[in-house]
Amino acid sequence: MTRRAAITGYPVAHSRSPLIHGYWLKRHGLDGTYERIAVEPETAKAFYRGFAGSGLIGCNVTVPHKEVAAACCDTLDDAAQAMGAANTLWLGDGGRLIGANTDGLGFLGNLDQHAPGWAGRCDTALVLGAGGAARAIVWALASRGVEKVLVANRTLSKAEDLANRFASVATAVSWDYLADILGRSDLVVNTTSLGMDGQPPLDLDLSPLPVDALVTDIVYAPLITPLLQAARDRGNPTVDGLGMLLHQAVPGFERWFGVRPEVDDALRDLILADLGVSS
Ligand code: ATR
Repeated sequence: MTRRAAITGYPVAHSRSPLIHGYWLKRHGLDGTYERIAVEPETAKAFYRGFAGSGLIGCNVTVPHKEVAAACCDTLDDAAQAMGAANTLWLGDGGRLIGANTDGLGFLGNLDQHAPGWAGRCDTALVLGAGGAARAIVWALASRGVEKVLVANRTLSKAEDLANRFASVATAVSWDYLADILGRSDLVVNTTSLGMDGQPPLDLDLSPLPVDALVTDIVYAPLITPLLQAARDRGNPTVDGLGMLLHQAVPGFERWFGVRPEVDDALRDLILADLGVSS
């Protein structure tokens, strides 16, 4: 029987997930589909609660439903529990709904692929932003044993809320003291929307940053954001954000279709072409 999975959220028209999973389904010759299902906010709770009757074997969840999906699950993995948000669901025994959050794993998979050994060189990480993506990344850094995660955000109270969630490693810091903080950072991660096409650039003077510190961005359109370009220009190693999108999809595909897929150059090129971005 054809296995059906889907991206669910509202809206879903612009999601690249069908392209990613479609590529892997074709590459592995599997009898499966990956659809787009727009779930209107008023119906989200009923949709995830009734998931066992949907005809799907699992799904991804995107904004704005990651929290409600987690609340509707019977079981959550450690990451989804820590974040209070799920992006990957599947049916377990007896139709039980199981939820995972793979955004943090996507972040780690991207750095592992493009900056191998990075964690061994990272005592202090600076995370810029305090939204859902930052939450996943702070979880990821903590899970890898990074000792100190500094969270800076335009709205300090949101950085404080996030840091409190991961209090064993995370501390909120004021955006006004970034120059000082950059000087002792081994890794800088932009999780804000600044630098994205149509948004202003992240205006950050990198001069205090050690030249061997790794700089990464979750924005992938453009692929090389002004932040990454500025880091490259002064000789810092950089990793672009596209790999996080691709790697976060791996655990769901493996769970639904039984094959662990590769994030290869052909997949990267396919998504870049769809984004209209050159590599
Ligand atoms: P996501 O869930 O994708 O992380 P989000 O929750 O909307 O998205 O978070 C966006 C992040 O970008 C927030 O940290 C936001 O800062 P605020 O909490 O102060 O809103 C940050 N951000 C967005 N626009 C910004 C800007 N112009 N300057 C500084 N930070 C900005």
